[in-house]
Amino acid sequence: MSTTSFAERIRFLLAALVSLAVLLLPLGLVRSQQKKTVPPVKERTVKTDPVDRRVRQRADSIIAQMTPEEKIGQLSQLFLFGESTKAEESARKGEVGSFLFVTDPAQINRLQKIAVQESRLHIPLLFGFDVIHGFRTIFPVPIAMAASWDPGLAEKAQSIAAREASAVGIRWTFAPMVDIARDPRWGRIVEGAGEDPFLGSAMARAQVRGFQGDSLGSPDHVLACVKHFAGYGAAEGGRDYDACYLSDTELWNVYLPPFKAAVEAGVGSVMSAYMDLNDVPATGNRWLLHDVLKENWKFQGFVVSDANAVKDLESHGFARDAADAATRAFTAGVNMEMGFVATNYDKHLPDAVKQGRVSTSQIDEAVRPLLETKIRLGLFENPYADQARVASVLGNPEHREAARIAAERSAVLLKNQGGLLPLEKSAYKKVAVIGPLADSKQDTIGSWAFAQDIKETVTPLEGIRKKLGSAVSVDYAPGVQLGRKFPSPFLIFLKEKSAAAWTEQQEKDEFKKAVDLALSADVAVLFFGESQIMSGEAASRSSLDLPGKQQELLEAVVATGKPVVLVLMNGRPLNVTWASEHVRAILEAWYPGTQGGLAIANLLFGDAVPGGKLPITWPRNVGQVPIYYSHNLTQSPENQGTRYWNEESTPLYPFGFGLSYSTFSFSNLKVSQPEVGLGQTISVSVEVENTGTRAGDEVAQLYVHQKAGSASRPVRELKGFQRITLAPREKKTVQFTLGPEELQYWSAAERKWVIEPGTFDLWVGADSAAKLHATFKIR
Ligand code: NOJ
Repeated sequence: MSTTSFAERIRFLLAALVSLAVLLLPLGLVRSQQKKTVPPVKERTVKTDPVDRRVRQRADSIIAQMTPEEKIGQLSQLFLFGESTKAEESARKGEVGSFLFVTDPAQINRLQKIAVQESRLHIPLLFGFDVIHGFRTIFPVPIAMAASWDPGLAEKAQSIAAREASAVGIRWTFAPMVDIARDPRWGRIVEGAGEDPFLGSAMARAQVRGFQGDSLGSPDHVLACVKHFAGYGAAEGGRDYDACYLSDTELWNVYLPPFKAAVEAGVGSVMSAYMDLNDVPATGNRWLLHDVLKENWKFQGFVVSDANAVKDLESHGFARDAADAATRAFTAGVNMEMGFVATNYDKHLPDAVKQGRVSTSQIDEAVRPLLETKIRLGLFENPYADQARVASVLGNPEHREAARIAAERSAVLLKNQGGLLPLEKSAYKKVAVIGPLADSKQDTIGSWAFAQDIKETVTPLEGIRKKLGSAVSVDYAPGVQLGRKFPSPFLIFLKEKSAAAWTEQQEKDEFKKAVDLALSADVAVLFFGESQIMSGEAASRSSLDLPGKQQELLEAVVATGKPVVLVLMNGRPLNVTWASEHVRAILEAWYPGTQGGLAIANLLFGDAVPGGKLPITWPRNVGQVPIYYSHNLTQSPENQGTRYWNEESTPLYPFGFGLSYSTFSFSNLKVSQPEVGLGQTISVSVEVENTGTRAGDEVAQLYVHQKAGSASRPVRELKGFQRITLAPREKKTVQFTLGPEELQYWSAAERKWVIEPGTFDLWVGADSAAKLHATFKIR
């Protein structure tokens, strides 16, 4: 496929200028509106200028002094766990450019001192780490942050994570993960923003801004790394690392946009993915890494491979041997190799240069952006962590407060029959807390949280006890245990030891204890879902059922007749179809982070109001997967029986869905002009009113459908959203703009980006099933 014609680039440039003009246009309009108008979101932009000339010259002057081995050393990144004289030696000889997984500031400073003072060219090391949803203070997992539909919140969370990580000397995070995921069997769905490219792009930009600040090198910030480029979320069967096959349409319209958004937001590094993309491994895929990323998108930073992904090119049936793997990843566009204890680059690129398979200028091209990044990060001037500052930064109570607010804002209320929630504090004398996840710190924070202090985490049980005090008896029974058939490779990182597996008799006793506890209480709050090692990397499943005996226990507790609240702790939609019919209240809390227990208690007892929305379509059962809202339609769509004859073709909960303790109405949908010219922008406004008795948040969501085109168009696509807070009876007008950026798509028929004349449907409402409708035309 041709990706970059000159005309196409000019068209992009024009489109960008038009969108800039239309972003500025409504500002005038907004000012003249009544006070309660919420203008379209105008995101803060970050500096994405091409690399400064002086930075380039400085990098080039270093390159001019480097031996081939030193250059290749800079292209190598190694895992480092604990002290190692070998690592020190490598730093001294300039054989390594970066380490990952070192979190002790004293060790970081020691290694850095060796590189800066003892290596020949004094090039500092770049320390990297998976700062995914927090460093010491753990925020809700990324899918939860996306459920907040609040990019500002995601930006703030990642800026706190950056502050904590950079305090210990980590200047590079392997985040954000922006892989679109439409298959909840895939464990890593927890690490991204869900199924939608528009929401995913907003979250990508916000996280890049949060990590990097206004520009690379901003104090207290770190270099971000958008991953896993690209298509990893489409693994066949949801099996982690499996091949994916994506059409050009899916790539351009769905899977690539969040990466492009991150690049446009100035992300400094990109991680290549593990899997085969249409039969070419992403880590050896020159079309992806060079043509799309570097040529088409003008990416100025560097590409790092995923861990051992270069070596893995052999197991794909792609590279002949380790030397071939190194050359092919390198020539495809992988600047830096992430290796476990050694890299293929280190071992084989020197020979490739000697034998002329790789030229010196190719090596220079690869090392230049790495050195530029180190320069821009200020590492040459400021290579060390200030150890005296570490404790106060990591212990900052404001960080924990922010994590609690984030957990409250990302919870999604899925059902609340008869207004069972919020629970009236004074109405219950005896609360039964049940479930294997209710008192597990590890499961409260979720995966990818290696540098946290487990003692700081508040479990749901602890949060509820703290909220209710001694006047209410809060008793706990786990009821069931959870376990994987095949153990997780991440078990070694867990800081809480799991209890020994129960005997059969214990299983029966514990199950009974939990049911008896519910029977004796006024209300039962169940914490069910998946333990954290059931979700994340190497945590895919063939089923979405509640693991273990949770479903049985749920049914037994419901059978007691006591009011039941089900709180879900998980990183993927699970099969709660039975619960949706039989349980009065369901709250999706995800893995809510360090302060999750406090947040959940606030939500359950009405000191916080849920306002999150699903960033993913929630299936009724696993057989519906993949199921997503922005699908196409063909033959007799209205005839349910032609779809599944045994199951609805609709999801259990639509994308964008989430309730509140209040109610909201949408009205007065207005489109600025019924018809606009090609490339022009329209404004859309809608009134949102809080029709309930509590203050709460609603997310106004705008969906568009192009009625006909050169290619079939999805039934609807998200093209705008805003989360707003409304007092009871308060009404606000929310505004959106739809410009070329929102109305263009990549047409498989035209084989290029198009904006096409025709009629468009538009809906605004509280989720992807919104009914309030208008149309407009492009001439
Ligand atoms: C493998 C994972 O796929 C990637 O997301 C992570 O950043 C690296 N390991 C480093 O831990």
